[in-house]
Formats: sequence, structure tokens, C-alpha cells
Amino acid sequence: MPNFINAFEEDVYKGLTAYPKKLSSKYFYDEKGDKIFQQIMNMPEYYLTNAEYSIIEAHKKILAEKFSNSIGFDLIELGAGDGKKTKVLLKHLDKGNYKFSYLPIDISKYVLKELQESLKEELPNVDVQPQEGMYFEVLKRLSEYKHRKKVIMVLGSNIGNLMHDKAIEFLQNIQKSMNPGDLLFMGFDQKKHPQQIINAYSDAAGITEAFNKNLLTRINRELDGNFNLDQFLHWETYDPETGTAKSFLVAKEALEVSINKLQLDVKFNAWETIHTEISQKYDDHTVNWLASQSNLKVIDQYTDQDNLFKNYLFSI
Ligand code: AVJ
Repeated sequence: MPNFINAFEEDVYKGLTAYPKKLSSKYFYDEKGDKIFQQIMNMPEYYLTNAEYSIIEAHKKILAEKFSNSIGFDLIELGAGDGKKTKVLLKHLDKGNYKFSYLPIDISKYVLKELQESLKEELPNVDVQPQEGMYFEVLKRLSEYKHRKKVIMVLGSNIGNLMHDKAIEFLQNIQKSMNPGDLLFMGFDQKKHPQQIINAYSDAAGITEAFNKNLLTRINRELDGNFNLDQFLHWETYDPETGTAKSFLVAKEALEVSINKLQLDVKFNAWETIHTEISQKYDDHTVNWLASQSNLKVIDQYTDQDNLFKNYLFSI
């Protein structure tokens, strides 16, 4: 094995020499991947964003009451993105003169900068303190915010990219950073008609395919690889029992790829797969189980008209 200079190199090497092959969806999000994800959120098939938006819009009054206290609070958002949904809440908090600071956290500094600039325009009175970094390192920093009430938000069903064991670790880490009175507000995409889920993750226009294939483009550019994107197709599966949606890139023919920076040649048989992403779907039973494994209590839940999506409020 060569010496790896970063986690991307190591993960790509290990993932493409494993059987079955895999690459992590966390590497979808470079500058181009961020833009493709914006397009995904605007697709008619991708119901998640609108459903969660409508939940926050419909429940902003009660949420503001539950989040706030007299001395003020820190609203900490993991994976803030473009803040479209959060702004609904921020506007309401701002209008009601609630005392709070907003701390958006994202791995993409590009996304954070855009968010900060748009907030300066739209909500000049809100105190915004952006934090760049990976979830887990930022979570460590989080536990230092002990001087006043913390409300941690994770929207978009981002937790769905983690298999249950990792999701529990993630929730346990959040739990450790919370003090009595602190809250966690989190979005969980719900089980529903399997076809609706398949459609959300395999759109006709091929945007999700491009999102997955951007990983290969990234390997070509950053690691001097020679993937031919046309030799792969994107395939989505959904298991209605486990609630796990899975994305794959499938080789349409036998082929070989060289990744020069890793001194690696990778052979694919025809129809060999690269697993790229899971997008877990939940029900109350599963969320309650995840909470119990993480010493968290579900104290409230909110849903949209069609029960597509739910946001749960947790305390320790
Ligand atoms: C940002 C992880 C919530 O899994 O629904 C969208 C990413 N992948 N389409 C999801 C995604 C394909 C998205 N999350």
C-alpha cells in the first residue's frame, strides 16, 4: 500500500481494492457536487426538502417557544447547506426578538461562505458564527458550548447516510455534548410507497446519476485516474423491510482503470458494482430504538400533511 496523504486517498484505495467495491457518499460534495445537490433539492421527485420546509413553516411558532429561553441560546446546525429551511426559523426568531446566535457547521467552506453572505443580506441582525469542519471534530468543539442552552439541529435526513451502528455513534456523540435542558432537533425521512423513494433517487433527468458519477470525476481529477463515466450506469434499490435505499455504480462491461496517484490498477468484471450511498428511511419504532441506544428521549415530533418526513425533538 502506498503512503496516503489524506483520507480521500486512503478511502478510495481501500474501497476499490475491497470486494464488493465501495466509495463513500461523503466524497460527493466538492464544489461541483454541492451544485448538483442543489439541483437535486429542486427536482420534482426529491420530496424531502419541500416536506421538511413545510414542517418547519407550519411549526415555527412552537419550535421558537421550545428552543428559546430568557438568557438566550445557541442554535447549532450540523450540515447547514444553503440554509433554505433554517431561514424560515431564523426569520421567525428574528421577528420575535428572541435572543440567540446561529452557528452553521458544514464540511464545505464554499457552502458556508454563500450561506454567511446571504444571511448578512436577508437577516442582518442575526448573530452568525460559521464553523467549518467534519461532524465529528466539530462535535468535540461543541461540548465547550456550556455557557448557555444549546439547540443542535440536523436537517435533511442527513443521518440517513449512516448505517444504524454509525448513526448510533453519531447520536451518542451529540448526546455527550448536551447538558440537561439542551435540545436536538433532527429530520428523519419516513418509510413510504417504495416507488416514491426509488423515483427520488433515480430521477429521469439523470441528475442523481451525475451526482454519483461526480465521485469518479473527482478521482480522475484529484488522483489522476482514467475512469470513463460512460462505462457505468447508476442503479438504485430500496428494501421496504429495512428501509434502506442503496445507490450503486455498475460497470456495463469488463474494464480496467488506472489511478496513478495511488499506483493502482483496478479491474472490473462486467456488471461489477461500486456501492456509493445509503439513504435510510425510518419509522417511529426505529427512531425510538436509535434514541434509546443513545440515551436520548424523544419529547416531540412534527410531520407534514402527507407524512413523508418527520422532525423529532430530543432531550437527554
Ligand atoms: C443529503 C444525505 C440527505 O440521502 O437523501 C440525494 C443525499 N443522495 N440524492 C439523501 C442524496 C442522492 C441526501 N442527503
